[in-house]
Amino acid sequence: MPGHTSRKKFLKKIMAGIAGSALIPDVLKASAGFSDEMNMQSMQQKKYFSANDTIQIGLIGAGGMGTADANTAITVPGVKLVAACDLYDGRLAAARKNYGNDIFTTKDYREILHRKDIDAVIVGTPDHWHKDISVDAMNNKKSVYCEKPMVHDISEGAEVVTAQNKNQVVFQVGSQGMSSLGNEKAKELLAAGAIGKLNYAEGFWARNSPEGAWQYTIPEEASDKTVDWKMFLNKYPDRPFDAKRFFRWRCYRDYGTGVSGDLFVHLFSSLHFITNSKGPQKIMAMGGLRYWKDGREVPDILMGMFDYPETAEHPPFNLSLRVNFVDGTGDNTYLRLVGSEGSMNVEWDKVTLFHNKAYAPADDPLLATKLKKESENNYQRKTMIQPDATVFKAEDGYKGAHFDHFYNFFSAIREKRNVAEDALFGYRAAAPALLCNDSYFNEKPIRWDPVNLKLL
Ligand SMILES: NC(=O)c1ccc[n+]([C@@H]2O[C@H](COP(=O)([O-])OP(=O)(O)OC[C@H]3O[C@@H](n4cnc5c(N)ncnc54)[C@H](O)[C@@H]3O)[C@@H](O)[C@H]2O)c1
Repeated sequence: MPGHTSRKKFLKKIMAGIAGSALIPDVLKASAGFSDEMNMQSMQQKKYFSANDTIQIGLIGAGGMGTADANTAITVPGVKLVAACDLYDGRLAAARKNYGNDIFTTKDYREILHRKDIDAVIVGTPDHWHKDISVDAMNNKKSVYCEKPMVHDISEGAEVVTAQNKNQVVFQVGSQGMSSLGNEKAKELLAAGAIGKLNYAEGFWARNSPEGAWQYTIPEEASDKTVDWKMFLNKYPDRPFDAKRFFRWRCYRDYGTGVSGDLFVHLFSSLHFITNSKGPQKIMAMGGLRYWKDGREVPDILMGMFDYPETAEHPPFNLSLRVNFVDGTGDNTYLRLVGSEGSMNVEWDKVTLFHNKAYAPADDPLLATKLKKESENNYQRKTMIQPDATVFKAEDGYKGAHFDHFYNFFSAIREKRNVAEDALFGYRAAAPALLCNDSYFNEKPIRWDPVNLKLL
């Protein structure tokens, strides 16, 4: 959907949906220059670019995911990594080993942003740095691929949306699943009525290992000599160097966003993409710290319940999300959408569609009995049974969601169009995940206006 038309459509929709444009928050007025709708341009129309059209990138936060992002990014033709930034010597050494000694390395991300030879950056830092680095990068006219969740707190979202619109640069949030063939197929099936009218969705993340529960290995040489600890803290309280806080930052609220910011956010991104939703209006979470009592400040089991209102895009439905880091059945995850005529399990490379076997909910049982009686003496010829489940699978050789998400990002830079997950979408996916934490810690339900991005 080319940018200009859909931008105009979005603006019109916003205007129509709100009584009086004076009520439109500034962030949405600013975002009217961008499309709120997914760019559904098919990945089948892929084309490759010449070598002299190289996009040069810098990696900021060269840890686990930043490195995975960079490794995927450079497999997109015409993309070259020329710089890396991290706060830990060991990670900078690893980056030089991976990408060549000639890359520029630094512990100060601003040095990357001031380089003229860099077109785009990947922000793979912990969550508490996403907003600052992304906004700073966009103000320096760099395109940004920022890991999820887009922000650490909902109060930070508007600044990112505004920076994207002000600078007219490409900004993509890294919930790669929504660029997958599986998510695209699910969106298509839902729109075609394959599961009838959507009324419920659920998602689950189960783990049962120290690594899965964020107890990452701490390198022996970790110290305030090898780590820029002051920089890591950002605006959060000063304290002596603490290797656990640095390497297992997810466990601490100043830097991470708990299981909901880490994992629910993927499910929100996919669900909102598939259903065209802007988000829930009621949010309630419960959970507890049951097992991994290693000083962490966040629960290891969390359940979130969400109420999605009826909108022009979808019927009203409920969502239930769970994370369990003490699940004896081991690792697994799923996203399932349920409708009046079936359900579908959505994976990144596979969708399994289940049909309602016995009857449609609207069937009249009395009528069915009457018909049966009437035909009792007649010959009952058997019928052909349709399969209970239909499986859609990606072709062998599919490069996967991560590649598709990066391909979408770099194509948007080259073709000057919107991405799959821009700042407004990323904000709407992050908000209910972050509000889950607020609901859990404050022990109360939260009301949210996903259209106007406001707490009620
Ligand atoms: N999309 C996904 O599937 C996915 C998967 C895992 C993680 N993530 C996200 O990626 C981000 C990083 O997670 P991770 O698991 O790679 O963590 P990590 O700890 O392995 O890596 C983070 C790196 O950022 C560096 N860093 C911290 N502050 C910095 C700063 N100000 N400037 C430069 N570098 C800085 C750290 O030194 C560290 O090397 C998180 O936001 C996480 O939610 C996304």
